[in-house]
Amino acid sequence: MTIPNASLAQAQDLLDYIDASPSPWHAVRTAEQKLLAQGFSLLEESERWKLVAGGSYFVVRGGSSIIAFILGQRSLLENGMRMVGAHTDSPGLRLKPKAHHTCERVDRLGVEVYGGPILATFADRDLSLAGRVNVRASGGFETRLLRFDAPLLRLPNLAIHMNREVNENGLKFNKQTELPLLLSIAGEHELNPFKRRIADELRVDAGDILTWDLNVYDTQKGAFWGADGEFIADSQLDNLASCHAALTALLATSSPDATCLCAFFDHEEVGSGSAAGAGGSFVSDVIERIAANTGLDDEARRCALARSFFISADMAHGYHPNFPSSYEPDHKVMVNAGPVIKSNVNQRYATGGASAARFIHLCESAGVPWQQYAHRTDLGCGSTIGPIVASRLGIASVDVGSPMWAMHSVRESAGVLDHAYMIAALSAAFRDARTG
Ligand code: CO
Repeated sequence: MTIPNASLAQAQDLLDYIDASPSPWHAVRTAEQKLLAQGFSLLEESERWKLVAGGSYFVVRGGSSIIAFILGQRSLLENGMRMVGAHTDSPGLRLKPKAHHTCERVDRLGVEVYGGPILATFADRDLSLAGRVNVRASGGFETRLLRFDAPLLRLPNLAIHMNREVNENGLKFNKQTELPLLLSIAGEHELNPFKRRIADELRVDAGDILTWDLNVYDTQKGAFWGADGEFIADSQLDNLASCHAALTALLATSSPDATCLCAFFDHEEVGSGSAAGAGGSFVSDVIERIAANTGLDDEARRCALARSFFISADMAHGYHPNFPSSYEPDHKVMVNAGPVIKSNVNQRYATGGASAARFIHLCESAGVPWQQYAHRTDLGCGSTIGPIVASRLGIASVDVGSPMWAMHSVRESAGVLDHAYMIAALSAAFRDARTG
């Protein structure tokens, strides 16, 4: 398989983005840095906005959700918006508030399961921590980003000699008793070596550490694999690959006719019901403020929404040849064969016939192949932010995604070509001249 150099470069940029983003807070910070470097301006939700025609801006909520937009050359009322949504969070393990405890002289950190990870994939990995820590400061506290670069923690497997049936029964962990992560052998003098490690890292007093939001991440960097390096493996491909594709497309869009917007939300993996999640008010608040700032009244804003199109980009299940019976035989989607349009008549996905046709047109205008996916009828179907944003905003929406393997493993894989195809398709969406 021949992989164009441009596609390789885009995939490498994705791996670099993921490696710089070991938590949703870091994913947003990394996106902010890319936006600032391209001249986007930060808007504070707590301040009045004064938007300039043709300007490009971004807004952050809760540190882990971000909306970036470019005001179109033509009126919002007549052209509506071209929107792409994705999510910044990935399923995995998060530290409990009082994480440290000692068990038979071993220091361990207690974790909660966030969303629906494949827990067994966290065993025997070089794990570490990244996220936010709140430390005492004048006026109360300040929030600091924290990332331990080196492996800090581990979930060692039980040896096969004590788990003889593991290959027949599968690798299982009791979530309360068997998931605490090993940190160190307890010393006689130190009460909490974990707080000391954070204090050292942040150069603060251990007594000033108040609270944290810390994500367990795999320190292994992303890699290319396959006979011709046509695949990538990394953590968090679901859904930082879609964030990266949308951001790359937005950053390459200059002076668009229609207003273009990217919204990356936290909390998709736990249902999106939060202030910063897709089920919260973030996206509608931002759209209302854009409309008000560009002179649209309530009715004009509703006209603009009716002329808008929303693409929800999340990953799709690429066909795994070792498990043929897990797939709908007529809707197999192949890795490196193009963006996948995901449909479900029960509205687990927002796709309808017309919105699918519109996305197909975008792919064809960009010279990108496309595929259609439906889950097996006798298996429960997943969902994503598409139906949530569609029902909040009432605009035409489609759910799409790049095919991947091992969704929700700590080490997922996907196709190099697919990432380039998705960037091209989303770029076409931002150029889309259709007005309703
Ligand atoms: Co996802």
